[in-house]
Amino acid sequence: MTDVLVLNGPNLGRLGSREPDVYGHLDHPGLAGRVLAWATELGFEAEVRQTDDEAELMAWLHEAVDTRRDVVLNPAAFTHYSYALRDAAAQVTTGGLRLIEVHLSNPASRERFRHTSVIAGVATGTIAGFGVDSYRLALQALAHQA
Ligand code: DQA
Repeated sequence: MTDVLVLNGPNLGRLGSREPDVYGHLDHPGLAGRVLAWATELGFEAEVRQTDDEAELMAWLHEAVDTRRDVVLNPAAFTHYSYALRDAAAQVTTGGLRLIEVHLSNPASRERFRHTSVIAGVATGTIAGFGVDSYRLALQALAHQA
């Protein structure tokens, strides 16, 4: 059984009511339920967490390194400017683990400030624009390359 940490950043706890035209109608518990079901189908044991706190998100990435767990990360707005989160994410991939960056929306087709990801350069890969299915595709990528 492979362990995967699925980590969601700021404002993703507001899914369901937050800009549903962009992010959909599913709330965070609903997203977590789908992710856990997909992970089980693929033979993973996954854990889904959400925080608005950059330090907490970094601590979870450190935990992933220390407990040897792959990561599916939606860094949310931290994607675009957090070098601290990038440095934490780099420890995952340079430590021989996989980190898939995911986004519900396609940031490249949105406002200019969203076109930059400071995380992408240290991620194993990025999946964006497929709504909650971005998480399913990320888990499938991890499963296919296990
Ligand atoms: C997001 C895209 C980010 O630009 C935004 O700040 C988010 C969500 C996404 O999943 O589409 O909070 O990461």
